[in-house]
Amino acid sequence: MTSPGERNATYAPLGLLAELTHRCPLGCPYCSNPVALEPRKGELDTATWARVFREAAALGVLQVHLSGGEPGARRDLVDIVAAARAAGLYGNLITSGVGITEASLGKLADAGLDHVQISIQDSIPASADVIAGYTGAFARKNALAHGVVRLGLPLTVNVVVHRANIERVGAMVELALELGASRVEIAHVQYYGWALANRAILMPEREQVARAAAEVEELRQRHHGRIVIDAVVPDYYARYPKPCVGGWGRRSLNVTPSGKVLPCHAAETIPGLTFWNVTEHALGDIWQNSPAFRAFRGTNWMPEPCASCARRDIDFGGCRCQAFALTGDATATDPVCHLSPRHAELATLAAERSEAAYTYRRMPAGREAEVETPA
Ligand code: SF4
Ligand code: FES
Repeated sequence: MTSPGERNATYAPLGLLAELTHRCPLGCPYCSNPVALEPRKGELDTATWARVFREAAALGVLQVHLSGGEPGARRDLVDIVAAARAAGLYGNLITSGVGITEASLGKLADAGLDHVQISIQDSIPASADVIAGYTGAFARKNALAHGVVRLGLPLTVNVVVHRANIERVGAMVELALELGASRVEIAHVQYYGWALANRAILMPEREQVARAAAEVEELRQRHHGRIVIDAVVPDYYARYPKPCVGGWGRRSLNVTPSGKVLPCHAAETIPGLTFWNVTEHALGDIWQNSPAFRAFRGTNWMPEPCASCARRDIDFGGCRCQAFALTGDATATDPVCHLSPRHAELATLAAERSEAAYTYRRMPAGREAEVETPA
């Protein structure tokens, strides 16, 4: 039996992902937002976000990632940035680059924004726009990236890698350098939600992944001192799983547009979890006591082979959301692990291929008007 003390040991969050809205003009087929996008009318107001930031800082959070959807869709984004600064948090804006102009960026910088992350979909403009599901996205992202650098804000370029762009990892790093980024984050698609629906279209070949990994290593050495290259490997082809979110309920929390607090962005894909809301509970209470955070905190919930494994405090049994997506059991060992009894099934799933069109991430029928066309 799990002791409550073990589940509530002295974990303190360092990072808060604030999903300010699920509205976004782009339609990336691997978006990390849930398939059931939250409506505009339920979004938290400015004052509630400001309170959440103060409570987060009191809990030990150092950094807030202002994300979405597209955070630029929030008319009060400047006030939200100012609230993060007032709470003493390092404010990182994660933007698609569409919906924020250089002028609005200047106001965000004046309000205390510390850092900007912009995603690029490909180094070839036409391909990037197809992947984003938005004509002109590539040009807008480039323009905003230059604006970030002109303002003197540090820029990270995010590159999400999949079958349609994996051969151009090097070109995308070159593009990040041209844009003036100090860091590039190369992450292979993680297959939950929208990406799971598109898995057979997005999955690269094993040989492509191996080539890309070697290329990233070579790029790291070649550009050492010019740009930091962080890379997340695609776990369907790995032997060990990733320590997802640094361990469930150990390092980070995620607040959805309507105020639900999740241990990770995909936690709602696991049925039966109860998520408390910041409109009803203080953040510290949620962190310590909410059923969702307690569900997989610590190690006592683990079955074998994780329970007696030497790596259980390194990777925490992998990703709970992936374990559920692939086995139907959120307590199972992540099948990415070669010690999982379900590991062999991954090769079969990774071999599925489709040349169909993407299922783009879009608001459901009848709610399209919630996403305004940016100026
Ligand atoms: Fe990690 Fe569990 Fe695999 Fe051990 S058995 S390496 S703890 S996933
Ligand atoms: Fe939820 Fe990994 S995405 S635990």
